[in-house]
This record gives sequence, structure tokens and C-alpha cells, in this order.
Amino acid sequence: MTTTALAPLLETSRELITSLQDPGGAYPASPTFSAYRGYCWFRDGAFIADGVSSAGEVTSPSAFLDWCAGVVESHRTPIERVVAAAAAGEPVPQEQMLPTRFTMAGGPGADEWWDFQLDGYGTWLWAAAEHAARHGVDISRWRTAGELTVDYLLSSWQRPCYDWWEEHAEQVHVSTLGCIVAGLRAAAGSGLVTGTRADAAHAGAEAAMDVITSRGVAHGHVTKWLGTDAVDASLAALVGPLGVIEPASELAAATITAIEEQLCTDGGVYRFRADTFYGGGRWPLLSCFLGLAHARTGNSARAGELLDWAARTATTDGLLPEQVDGHLLAPHYRSEWIDRWGPVATPLLWSHAMVLRLAAELKEENA
Ligand code: BGC
Repeated sequence: MTTTALAPLLETSRELITSLQDPGGAYPASPTFSAYRGYCWFRDGAFIADGVSSAGEVTSPSAFLDWCAGVVESHRTPIERVVAAAAAGEPVPQEQMLPTRFTMAGGPGADEWWDFQLDGYGTWLWAAAEHAARHGVDISRWRTAGELTVDYLLSSWQRPCYDWWEEHAEQVHVSTLGCIVAGLRAAAGSGLVTGTRADAAHAGAEAAMDVITSRGVAHGHVTKWLGTDAVDASLAALVGPLGVIEPASELAAATITAIEEQLCTDGGVYRFRADTFYGGGRWPLLSCFLGLAHARTGNSARAGELLDWAARTATTDGLLPEQVDGHLLAPHYRSEWIDRWGPVATPLLWSHAMVLRLAAELKEENA
């Protein structure tokens, strides 16, 4: 797809994200999908903020990051409880850890969810540092929340929790660790946190990185969780936007190859081989993550193909879905999910953001 052919989708994506942003700064994951409506995830939101920031928006991502900071600060008491309990060697139970998603008003909401995921607390720190550096925003406006978040992550990064896909709470997921490494490095490196806390953040990031490289690698690539040899497409983020794995390394090359070989059909990327959600389709946002990983290693031709595939999943109205039908891994499960939650989430703001992010990356490279 030429730059000109892509332009309307990029415009729609930017417009959709900024117009659907809540006045308080939260980005809804999807405005229409039954199970997501009314909620904002730190994970989705951080990548959405980074996507529109890379496309030139300043106010919208700043407002989202202000919202994150407000949510974190309003959880000061539970965070301090988590930190104190961990320091005393008696970690709080999972139910007392911070939620994964919040209502637009920053509350917990009335619906049950697969709460306790740590990755979003790393990604918002990372997104804050990226946005501040990109647009010269003074990062100190998020300092109080940054300090609380760093303390929370340092106290708890070794704990098992649900992954990006809100599954397997009993495992320590390598993508989650990667998000934590990225967040801690970003917080310390950007001056969001300073002094001994910055030193501790650097040390925590390197300790988590050691766990990734010593226990989260098989056949030369990073793995879905510690102790398996399976791969998960979310791992592309560690090479791509998060920059946790050195792009020129053998680890990056082997990880990209494993995702290409095990999880990619045409340019479409599955989450993981055992996926049954909506029949286990391919996710445009994951094509973009893989594209970003390729772009960082210098393979912009492959990155462009993956961007094209993702862009072609748009509906005639220019809306991007969470996943697409066709070549399903587990077709029998599809109707079960449609009956439960309705058709696949469309639009999914995270999908739009990732198309923006990869397009911006490729534009920068060609500039
Ligand atoms: C995905 C999550 C995502 C959420 C909202 C879930 O189905 O597994 O990764 O954060 O949807 O988009």
C-alpha cells in the first residue's frame, strides 16, 4: 500500500482516537464492544497514547498520562500496603493488587475482570518517557505517580500475574517482565524518578532482564512464560517499541524468526498457537508489533508488508478490528464467543494506534 493509499486510514485512526477519548483523559478500549465498553486499560492506553503521540498529537497523550497519574495517586494507600507487605516478606494476595482496567472516572467498575496484571504499570511509565522526549513535555508533572508506580513494580515484579491476554495468572510472563523492564528503565532514564529511587529502578530493571535472559529463553528466542518453549506474539514488543531487547542481537533475530514461523500467516499474526478466543484469529495490532520489531532491525520491507496487512483489515468505514476471521486456529470456538460477547470488537483503538505507530516509524526511517 502506498503512503497515499494509507493516508485516509491514518487520518481516521487519529480522529477516532482523539474524538473517543474521555474528557478526563481515558481512552476507551472499544466504544461499542460489550465486554470492553466504558473501560480503559493501562496497557492499551499506553500504546494508544504512544501511537497518537508518534503521529504528532501532544494534548491527547498528555491528557491520558495525566489520567494515569490521577488513577495511580488515588491508589496511594493500596500501593503503600502492597509495598510494605512485600518488604515484610508477606506479599498481599492477588485480589489486593491494583486492577488492570478502570472506568473512565478511574474507578474499579462493577464487572468482574481478570485483574492483577503488572504490564500496564510498566507501559504507562514507558509511554510517559517516550511522549515527553518526543514533544519536549516536562515529565516532572507525572513525578508523584511515577514514584508510586516504580515502588509498586519494584516490590512485586517477580510475582506471577495474568498476561497481556488476561490468561494464566499462575505464570511469570516474559512480555510482562519486558514491559516492567521498559517502564523502570524509562522512569530512571527520563528523570521521572531521581536519586536513590532511580538507582533502585535501574537495578530492578536489570534484575528483571537477567530473569528474562536466564529463564525466559528457549531455542534462542524469548518465551511466552518462564519455563516453556512456546512463543507469544506480544514478545515482538520487546524488540519493537519497548526496546528491551537489543535489535542487533541474536535474541532479537531468533524471536522475530520464531514469531514469523510459528504465528504468522500472510501478514497476519496470531497471539499464540493455543489461542481459542473468537476461534483464534490474527490480530492487526500484532502485525504492527512484529513490523516494529522488523523496522528496528532494519528490515523495513517486511515491516511495510505487515503494515499493509494490518491496514487491509479495515472495514469499508475505515474501522480496525481486534482480530480477523479466516485461517482460524480453533474455528469451533468462534460461535461460543460471538454468543457470549457479540461480534469481534470493532473498532479497537489499540489496533488503530499500532497502525499509526508503525506508519510513523517507517516514515521516520524513510525521511
Ligand atoms: C485482550 C487484552 C486487551 C483487552 C482490551 C482483551 O481481549 O486480551 O489484551 O487489553 O481486550 O482491548
